[in-house]
Amino acid sequence: MTSPPADTSDGKNAVTARDLERRYGEGATAVHALRGVSLDVRGGELVAVMGPSGSGKSTLMHILAGLDKPTTGSVRIAGTEISGLDDAKLTLLRREHIGFVFQFFNLLPMLDAEENIVLPLSIAGERPDRQWLDELLRKTGLSARRSHRPAQLSGGEQQRVAIARSLITRPTILLADEPTGNLDSRTGSEILELLRDSADAYGQTLVMVTHDARVASIADRILVLADGQIVRELVGSTAADVLEVMSTLD
Ligand SMILES: Nc1ncnc2c1ncn2[C@@H]1O[C@H](COP(=O)(O)OP(=O)(O)OP(=O)(O)O)[C@@H](O)[C@H]1O
Ligand SMILES: [Mg+2]
Repeated sequence: MTSPPADTSDGKNAVTARDLERRYGEGATAVHALRGVSLDVRGGELVAVMGPSGSGKSTLMHILAGLDKPTTGSVRIAGTEISGLDDAKLTLLRREHIGFVFQFFNLLPMLDAEENIVLPLSIAGERPDRQWLDELLRKTGLSARRSHRPAQLSGGEQQRVAIARSLITRPTILLADEPTGNLDSRTGSEILELLRDSADAYGQTLVMVTHDARVASIADRILVLADGQIVRELVGSTAADVLEVMSTLD
């Protein structure tokens, strides 16, 4: 079974961001986390965001997800400008269109794997599509672990639960902030493959922050942030190319 491609009603773009600035604090001590970032993410595209620590990657992801507001600039998700939405409308839009995967898996310890995966639907008072749930469990290799609680799962399994949870609602865009940051390199590679597969098999649109140059081989495009700006855009690069670019920034 394949689900329809993600809703990309904003023409061909799932996400459009224009001139994003994010300033923390005021005056001489203000921190300019983002200084004019614009980007378009096409439906079905897998974009990686790289950059030195403190370059604004997490800030950008939180703003794209509607978890934080830019000081100036605009974000459109699936054709809707989110900066003007009130909290209730933003919550609905986030529920329908946005999936988020964190570096720390953020699972609820008292719920088992399956309950964690369907949580976004439970909160919304909706029932899961059993076929889709079973397919996600199979794809993430969790079918035999569905009744295990997070404490009974390995780190890689917990992150796979978090990814399945982010996909259960078939979001327009899946945002992942260092999804392999807490995993050993082999488990990290498996998670990267799973994310690539979600783009290939379901047309899932993804933006993913990572420090791992191996993403070069799975991303369609790599945006490099430095000091709150996009300084490079890499397409068709090798891991060696990526390492070289990163070494000039650190
Ligand atoms: N709540 C906050 N208040 C003040 N400054 C902040 C806040 N959050 C982030 N910053 C600053 O904004 C800048 C960008 O932070 P951000 O977390 O986006 O970086 P990052 O690229 O994700 O770094 P890392 O790779 O370490 O996760 C940093 O200088 C950080 O100190
Ligand atoms: Mg970060």
